[in-house]
Amino acid sequence: MTADPKASFGFKDVAAAEKPGLVRGVFNSVASRYDLMNDLMSAGVHRIWKDMAANRLNPQPGEVIIDCAGGTGDMARRFARLARQAQKRRGGADPAIHVMDYNAEMIAAGIKRGPDPFITWNVADAQNLPLPDGAADAYVISFGLRNVTDIPKALAEARRVLKPGGRFLCLEFSRPVTEALRSAYDAYSFKAIPALGELVAGDRESYQYLVESIRRFPDQAALVKLMRQAGFANPGFTNFTGGVVALHHGWAA
Ligand SMILES: C[S@@+](CC[C@H](N)C(=O)[O-])C[C@H]1O[C@@H](n2cnc3c(N)ncnc32)[C@H](O)[C@@H]1O
Repeated sequence: MTADPKASFGFKDVAAAEKPGLVRGVFNSVASRYDLMNDLMSAGVHRIWKDMAANRLNPQPGEVIIDCAGGTGDMARRFARLARQAQKRRGGADPAIHVMDYNAEMIAAGIKRGPDPFITWNVADAQNLPLPDGAADAYVISFGLRNVTDIPKALAEARRVLKPGGRFLCLEFSRPVTEALRSAYDAYSFKAIPALGELVAGDRESYQYLVESIRRFPDQAALVKLMRQAGFANPGFTNFTGGVVALHHGWAA
């Protein structure tokens, strides 16, 4: 008899089959305050990280781009804006930017922010995307991968849906590079973030999970290794804010 596979849920280990429901509960609870909380928790810096990731992607007219675990579409809107600017300069077909998130509440909160003709909204699981092989020019997952139950499976799925040569980007909290930054960041995140969650969203537990899930996520080098195992060529990363966040990048070989 084999033991049930386990997955991390914050600092707890739970049955892997239980994790999607638990994570969905977290994002159901935070959906309506999600954008405001991001601004408060990061003092607005998440916007700069997202801008840097979108510029790195360099979205082009006519491209198919997946914003996986896209939530309220923060990244998708940046891609649409950049592709629109490029289209104004040089012409070209409309891009198709697909937000894919398995939480209908997050998708609903994103739709409420207003339509964009380049963006479609889809309830879909990162581990089983409703797309044929080789459908996309680019795949981005921003602050989403640490919430997924089976990270290697999500990476393999990203690889599957990308065209050969397609770009992969993962923006995610990571490991600060110096001890001083690590302890300052630990103190801030374990004390301030759950308290802020309680104050603003009336939900300490969900924010406690978010902080713990960051600590359980593979560090920069470990994620590079997982990307290589999933078949990405030239995997690498760029640290933002001293490694508080890292942007991992690679190509579908
Ligand atoms: C922290 S939010 C990030 C949202 C957005 N990408 C951003 O950068 O603001 C994480 C998102 O991952 C989604 N998520 C978690 N597990 C998922 C899965 N297996 N498949 C698709 N989305 C998932 C959650 O529903 C949530 O919307």
